[in-house]
Amino acid sequence: MILVTGGAGFIGANFVLDWLAASSEPVVNLDKLSYAGNLHNLDSVRGDARHVFVQGDICDAALLERLFAGHQPRAVVHFAAESHVDRSIHGPQDFIQTNIVGSFRLLEAARGYWSRLPADARAAFRFLQVSTDEVYGTLAPAEPAFSETRGFEPNSPYSASKAASDHLVRAWQHTYGLPVLTTHCSNNYGPYHFPEKLIPLTIVNALAGRPLPVYGDGLQVRDWLYVRDHCSAVRCVLDAGQPGQTYNVGGGNEKPNIEIVHTVCALLDELRPRADGQGYACQITHVRDRPGHDRRYAVDARKIERELGWRPAETFASGIRKTVQWYLEHADWVANVQTGAYRDWVQTQYQSAESAESAPSARQAADAGA
Ligand code: NAD
Ligand code: DAU
Repeated sequence: MILVTGGAGFIGANFVLDWLAASSEPVVNLDKLSYAGNLHNLDSVRGDARHVFVQGDICDAALLERLFAGHQPRAVVHFAAESHVDRSIHGPQDFIQTNIVGSFRLLEAARGYWSRLPADARAAFRFLQVSTDEVYGTLAPAEPAFSETRGFEPNSPYSASKAASDHLVRAWQHTYGLPVLTTHCSNNYGPYHFPEKLIPLTIVNALAGRPLPVYGDGLQVRDWLYVRDHCSAVRCVLDAGQPGQTYNVGGGNEKPNIEIVHTVCALLDELRPRADGQGYACQITHVRDRPGHDRRYAVDARKIERELGWRPAETFASGIRKTVQWYLEHADWVANVQTGAYRDWVQTQYQSAESAESAPSARQAADAGA
């Protein structure tokens, strides 16, 4: 049994789906169902007894203690976070609470549980912190890509909160000996990506005839990785990573934002042309830049390739085509997110966190479609 946090979000849900497709080992999936958590992401494992969904907050120490005691996980894979840079600029409070306080509570609960395990189980236990390349700050055009030895220079409230939690994770290993692993991944894209982020926002706005907002000159560079390749990297680190080590994960796909937007427009022109015959690129609109916008990220992923044999399966061309096709084929998912209907559904299908705690079997029954 592994405990996954944030497994109803974009990457966490992809991870849970991939895990259950590849392994017989069950997953306890703890997710608060913030605006970014969507149980429809997990529709395909509804009824699968290996998936135990628990609606709850990683800040809730009592709930965490009960989950560790009740499910005895051999590992924690920690995805739960507030993840959107723009939201962190607008309102950092939730980022401090979940990303720092929540990670602290999770570390403490994991440590309490781990410290009472028999010696062999204690040695085998892992706490995997899913972090971001943004903690390294920004790169000048000629600088080499981020390696694991680069210092942290976070620039946004989001990246500062992730860096803070990464430091806590490191300290829990150094001070208490908790066997931790940390990954720093570049920008993900793929199915179930919430349409507040650049790629899904571009797809859904293009199809709706709305402007495609490009911040500033659009020449900021990100390094893109198909989400399932990130999931395979996390699995690889969980299986074979050395406790106390950090691993950078990236696709080697450095691209300016404006090129990303043009690529998405060109794919839509091919797969779902506009009725008026114009290209979707006519909807591109340059808007005011993001405050403190990091200019360039690039990840040196040679360590995970060299030491653990991980490599991405998708090229950017294959991954972005799959992604655009997925959004075209999942108009219902997009509509649910855009109208907010997915929230209504959460309310009617699941109880509140408190009642779930007192009646976990009812939640499991709901999850199993009973
Ligand atoms: P997301 O916003 O799509 O999902 C986050 C999930 O965490 C949601 O399901 C949400 O309900 C849940 N959550 C939020 N607060 C919680 C709390 N207090 N308790 C329990 N659950 C809570 O995020 P994502 O893009 O899937 O990112 C997942 C992780 O990967 C994050 O830690 C993020 O920092 C990291 N990461 C993301 C990217 C990327 O490109 N998206 C890249 C590198 C690393
Ligand atoms: O690098 C990894 C990070 O990637 C993760 O840690 C974050 O959780 C994830 O959200 C992502 O952060 P970014 O800020 O890079 O992603 P976003 O999709 O918001 O923006 C990508 C780039 O596109 C960035 O340079 C800002 C720009 N942008 C974004 C939006 C939403 C636009 O130009 N227009 C937009 O409308």
